[in-house]
Amino acid sequence: MNRWTTPELVPVPVVRDDLGALGVVERDDPFPFPIRRVYYLFDVPSDAVRGSHAHKELHQLIVAVAGTFSVELDDGRSRTTFDLDSPAMGLSVPPGYWRTLSGFSEGSAALVFASAEYDPDDYIRDYDEFVSWASR
Ligand code: TYD
Repeated sequence: MNRWTTPELVPVPVVRDDLGALGVVERDDPFPFPIRRVYYLFDVPSDAVRGSHAHKELHQLIVAVAGTFSVELDDGRSRTTFDLDSPAMGLSVPPGYWRTLSGFSEGSAALVFASAEYDPDDYIRDYDEFVSWASR
């Protein structure tokens, strides 16, 4: 299985010493694309459900840099839920997956590394449209 065509939890390189820990994401390690955008979610209410869309081309690496939350990924046929609870792990999300983020703990933050700049045309926001796009 190639982690960049199939969702997978991947280790993020961490430098740890007596003063704490430092996580590093660079092009190729572990994100094998030029990083074109970084964004983060914070102050998310615990009952909020975010995402609810798919991307046609975008690759992402999602890291729970604080707290915990869940990411459900759906390829149009089956769904898998990943519980993110460590700044030392990232969830690789290839294009073509409907994602639903929920269960944000108090003070949690999701850091997202993306392979492209923001492009509303890369989004599929209608689930039925996604299912027919995924079965094309
Ligand atoms: P959205 O992608 O729907 O967030 P989520 O999937 O986390 O629920 O984006 C929420 C809003 O933020 C929407 O109005 C678009 C805007 N936005 C940007 O302006 N730039 C970005 O890079 C992202 C990811 C979102």
